Amino acid sequence: MRKTIENMLRGYTPSVAELVEILNCNSENTTYLFDVAHEVTKEYFSDWVYVRGIIEFSNYCRCQCAYCGLNRDNKKITRYRMDPDEIIQIAEEAYEAEYRTVVLQSGEDIWYTREKISYIIRGIKAIGDMAITLSVGERDYEDYVKWKQDGVDRFLLKHETSNERLYKKLHPHSELKRRLEILGQLKKLKYQVGSGFLIGLPGQNTEDIARDILLLKKLNVDMAGIGPFIPHEQTPLGKEKTGSTWMTLKALALSRILLKNSHLPATTALSTVDKIDSSMAFRAGANVIMKKLEPYKYRRLYEIYPKPLGEEKTILQEKEELNEYIAHMGKRANWSRGDSLKQ
Ligand code: 5AD
Repeated sequence: MRKTIENMLRGYTPSVAELVEILNCNSENTTYLFDVAHEVTKEYFSDWVYVRGIIEFSNYCRCQCAYCGLNRDNKKITRYRMDPDEIIQIAEEAYEAEYRTVVLQSGEDIWYTREKISYIIRGIKAIGDMAITLSVGERDYEDYVKWKQDGVDRFLLKHETSNERLYKKLHPHSELKRRLEILGQLKKLKYQVGSGFLIGLPGQNTEDIARDILLLKKLNVDMAGIGPFIPHEQTPLGKEKTGSTWMTLKALALSRILLKNSHLPATTALSTVDKIDSSMAFRAGANVIMKKLEPYKYRRLYEIYPKPLGEEKTILQEKEELNEYIAHMGKRANWSRGDSLKQ
């Protein structure tokens, strides 16, 4: 196993079987794996942790992802949409609080037409130099073209699972092939592209996870989010088991060693399962943290998976906390745009 990792450091792409062996390794070898991943992270990013803001602006969704609390069949959730001007205003507050990059995320909500999203993008770009990442799901090619022209820098669209059959089962409205096609379009349009996947989905095995990691490599992603599946009661998978945080951290570490300089966040899902694990992530390959920016009345309702909310704070108070948290890990918070190192 150590031989494989050493070879990976020299640019070797491992086989599925080799990755599976590492994903199943004992605790001593896990420590070694994390240490190597941390070294690679420091080589490219020093001790910086890149901070990104995220505005979850609508929880309406036309999709039926079996694991997701926002899925359209969940009739119990209260739905909300933020007004375009309100979204721009939150981005402005974030800019004043030093954020230089913001992710705009929502369910697949076509109330936000191509033009409405354009309006939001142009509004935010008028504030100052702020990188924008869109995470709004599958749309027409022309939408992606337009938004790029408007100045969007990045796009997040996780492949969720590379197992075609499992993908179809969990996403009856969609297909893996379509996802991959869109990821290709986004690359061609010169977006910085993010993908990612879930760990511990019911029906997923370790080989699938190995293939997920290899797919990130094949896609040559600028960023990738890897997080544990968390059951949400109001979904068909509500009674299933939570994904393993150790497996998540191992997949993260292997992705770091394989992808080298991609941006890898400590996903929010990881810190939801266990606060300690999110700081572990920064010792196992993560270099990015995302902070929610929308008002609490919306956060409460953006329930992809169940999560504690904590007491209500301002963007500035949360920023202070974040700086302390990062310093406490022996790292430094980086508030710049944090563009891809791959381009
Ligand atoms: N548990 C963990 N992550 C989830 N996501 C959606 N539902 C869940 C869940 N139940 C993730 C998906 C999606 C992102 C916005 O949230 O990976 O891409």
